[in-house]
Amino acid sequence: MTLPEIIIPEVADTISDKVTLEEFERVRKLVYAKFGINLTEQKRALVAGRLQGALHQYGYKTISEYLNWIEKGGNTEGLSDLVNRISTNHTHFFRESGHFDFFIKTVLPWALASSRNKNENDLRLWCAASSSGEEPYSLQMLIMEAMGADYKNWSAGMLATDISERALDMAQSGIYASEKVRDIPKHLLTKWFKSLPDGTYQVSESLRKEITYRRFNLMNDAFPFKKPFHSVFCRNVMIYFDMETRSKLVNKICDKLVPGGYLFIGHSESLGNINTALQYIQPAVYRKEG
Ligand SMILES: C[S@@+](CC[C@H](N)C(=O)[O-])C[C@H]1O[C@@H](n2cnc3c(N)ncnc32)[C@H](O)[C@@H]1O
Repeated sequence: MTLPEIIIPEVADTISDKVTLEEFERVRKLVYAKFGINLTEQKRALVAGRLQGALHQYGYKTISEYLNWIEKGGNTEGLSDLVNRISTNHTHFFRESGHFDFFIKTVLPWALASSRNKNENDLRLWCAASSSGEEPYSLQMLIMEAMGADYKNWSAGMLATDISERALDMAQSGIYASEKVRDIPKHLLTKWFKSLPDGTYQVSESLRKEITYRRFNLMNDAFPFKKPFHSVFCRNVMIYFDMETRSKLVNKICDKLVPGGYLFIGHSESLGNINTALQYIQPAVYRKEG
C-alpha cells in the first residue's frame, strides 16, 4: 500500500525519523506476534505518527522507552494501548450493504428453520471484529425488524468481539455523532435511536441489550464458544493478516460454524488459496459444507 497522498514527502520523512528502523522492527514483531497484524515498511510513518500520542500520554521520551514498558511481563495495559493505536477501526453503518440484504433474505430464514428443525429456538451470531459497533447494530436492527413480534420467542442475541478496548467502549455506549448516523434510513433511525441534547444519537436500550460485547483476540489458539454459530461476520480485519494467519483463522471460524453456517468477509478479502471446508456462495460470502 502507498502512503496516503495527503502526507507530503518532507513531512513523511520527519515523522519516519521519529521511529528508528530498529524501533519499527520491534513494533512490527510485537504486533504480529500478539495480534497477527502485518505491518509493512510503508506503514512506518503511520506507526510513528500514531505512537507519538503514547509518548505524550505516558511521559516517555522515545518509542524505545514506550516499548520497554509494553514488553514488561504481564503488561496488559501496554499491549492494549498499543493495539488501540495501531489498529484501524474504520467502519460504518450498513457497510457493504448487499451482505445485510443477503443475510435477511437468505441466511436468517435458513437459520431459523434449521434451529426449529432441531427443536432449538436460538439464533447464534458472532460479529468477530465489531469495532465501534456499527456492524453488529446494523445487523441486529434488521433482524429485529424482520422477525417482528416473533423475536421475543427466540433466544437471538448476538456476540460482538474486538481486540480494541477503545472500540468496544464506544460500541457499548452506542453513542454516535450525527454524521455517523446519516446513512441510516430515517424510519430505522427514529425507531432504534434516541437523539441526545448534545446532538449525538444513542442506540436504544432495547437494541443495545441484545448484543454482548467482549474483548477477544482472533489470534487466540482456542475459540471457547459453547455452541457453534449459524453465521459469523468477520469483515475487513483479515486484510491486516498474512496468508498463514488468515488460513488458521478461517479454519478456526469454520470449526465454530454449524453445518450449513455462513461466513461473511470483507469484499476486499478473499479465501482463495486457503484450504477450508467453506464453499464460495457469492462475493465475500462462504458456507460450511453440511
Ligand atoms: C477495519 S475494522 C472492521 C470493522 C467491521 N468489521 C467492518 O467491516 O466495518 C477492523 C477491526 O479489527 C480489529 N482487530 C484487529 N486485529 C484484531 C485481532 N487480532 N483480534 C480481534 N480484532 C482485531 C480492530 O480493532 C478493528 O476494530
